[in-house]
Amino acid sequence: LDSIRQKVDDAVLCVPDFPKPGILFRDIMPIFKQPKLVSNICSAVASHLRESFPHGITAIAGLEARGFLFGPQIAILLDCIFVPIRKLGKLPGATIKASYVKEYGVDTVEIQQGILSPNDTVVIVDDLIATGGTMRAAMEVIEATQAKVIECFVLIELEALEGVKVLPEHCNFVTLLKH
Ligand code: HPA
Repeated sequence: LDSIRQKVDDAVLCVPDFPKPGILFRDIMPIFKQPKLVSNICSAVASHLRESFPHGITAIAGLEARGFLFGPQIAILLDCIFVPIRKLGKLPGATIKASYVKEYGVDTVEIQQGILSPNDTVVIVDDLIATGGTMRAAMEVIEATQAKVIECFVLIELEALEGVKVLPEHCNFVTLLKH
């Protein structure tokens, strides 16, 4: 991961007052103007996960929407399944849900029932952790299947928001960048 840290930091655009006054928004989309960087990120994350978990990872779970930009690519490199964690109402059939409190109101994430089992070892990926509510709910839906969440990986942690503190004690959290 050390080899890509600076390049990713250089590519992320910090946009003042978006989406609201006072918010400094980290825009990760410029990363995709550099396809080789995208590829290097996914390879570096896959290598990091191979080294950390030599006994293997059976699933990458990606958070809607920006976790979908990297998660499936990392899953392909590791030859494991990709599990989409989606906002309420997007997935057909029976689902497992978890809710979290946002600035205004409550949001719910869900996964389809039956895609994970107690034997699965899962890494949750997202672009960024802010207050941590979404990541915490993501852990809840995965762990509700009895599968093991062995790491939560993000590209950027907004340290001042202390999102890592709302994650369960046993959570193994890894970030590429601290902002
Ligand atoms: N960027 C992207 N998503 C976010 C941010 C940000 O800075 N803060 C909270 N969600």
